[in-house]
Amino acid sequence: MIRFDNVTKTYMRGQHPAVENLDIEFARGEFVFLVGASGSGKSTMMRMVLKETAPTLGTVYVAGRDLSRIPSWKVPALRRDIGMVFQDFRLLPSKTAYQNIEFALAVIGTPRKVVRRLVPEMLEMVGLEDKGKRLPHELSGGEQQRVAIARAYVNRPSILLADEPTGNLDPSTAEGILDLLSEINERGTTVVMATHDHGAVDRMRRRVVEMVGGRVVRDEREGLYESETPVSVISGHLPDDSAHRSELPSALLVDEGEQPASEDGPAGDVLEEELIDERDALLEQHEDAFAEDEDGEALR
Ligand SMILES: Nc1ncnc2c1ncn2[C@@H]1O[C@H](COP(=O)(O)OP(=O)(O)O)[C@@H](O)[C@H]1O
Ligand SMILES: [Mg+2]
Repeated sequence: MIRFDNVTKTYMRGQHPAVENLDIEFARGEFVFLVGASGSGKSTMMRMVLKETAPTLGTVYVAGRDLSRIPSWKVPALRRDIGMVFQDFRLLPSKTAYQNIEFALAVIGTPRKVVRRLVPEMLEMVGLEDKGKRLPHELSGGEQQRVAIARAYVNRPSILLADEPTGNLDPSTAEGILDLLSEINERGTTVVMATHDHGAVDRMRRRVVEMVGGRVVRDEREGLYESETPVSVISGHLPDDSAHRSELPSALLVDEGEQPASEDGPAGDVLEEELIDERDALLEQHEDAFAEDEDGEALR
């Protein structure tokens, strides 16, 4: 679903790369924790997946597509299929919870009748059915993050990127947010979550990818926040990453069976086809509603 093929990202010439020789793949439907100190390259990885920043070297693939070959006019379609959640929520402050979710649908021209069904459905999914009229400042941090998740998920993206989503929340609130991300993952969305939340990682026992100085130093199938095998790292660089990895008994990458087809193959259009299928299904479901909806009030 997401593949980094020998990716290096250097923001400024002469600077140590933010991400270096990254070779990793996240399969469809996986839940992946990205852990590592601040500055280890987690957000940079996410920004490259969103095509917000380009690799200096190497290639990033999403759903089999080389992102460097996606023309700029197709980038919005890419981002529509990738939900994003941040530590600081990033809600529109003057819009209500309802309107924040509605906005994500409106910008892609979703018909009003569909919006009127989907937004309450999303509010209910995140447990805020009675708080749709609240402005962000009238909601707790946990509630704001729920709105942000509802907004990120309302288009049913195939990927959800969460950048330290529980970083500003107390532990019990954080647990609720994690349960929500877990539910979204169970519904089929690939979730990649950068975090410093030991509790979250240890409770979930999902794939853990640990970054140090822009490199992957650990990749475990059902990992804990702290490595069970001591990782010796000198100034952020591992002299021989591959040798180090093979020492780890549980270090493993993606199952062969889960590999998406080659980037040159038919998988190239999966992202778009899925989007189209989903939208068609929605449209069919609401055909009658559209027929009646003749006042033509456009959503902005
Ligand atoms: N826009 C930028 N310009 C220059 N350097 C950056 C930029 N964004 C991140 N960096 C640097 O890249 C490295 C990795 O940062 P980041 O990906 O944000 O790490 P993390 O999310 O793990 O904290 C850090 O050294 C950071 O200072
Ligand atoms: Mg970050």
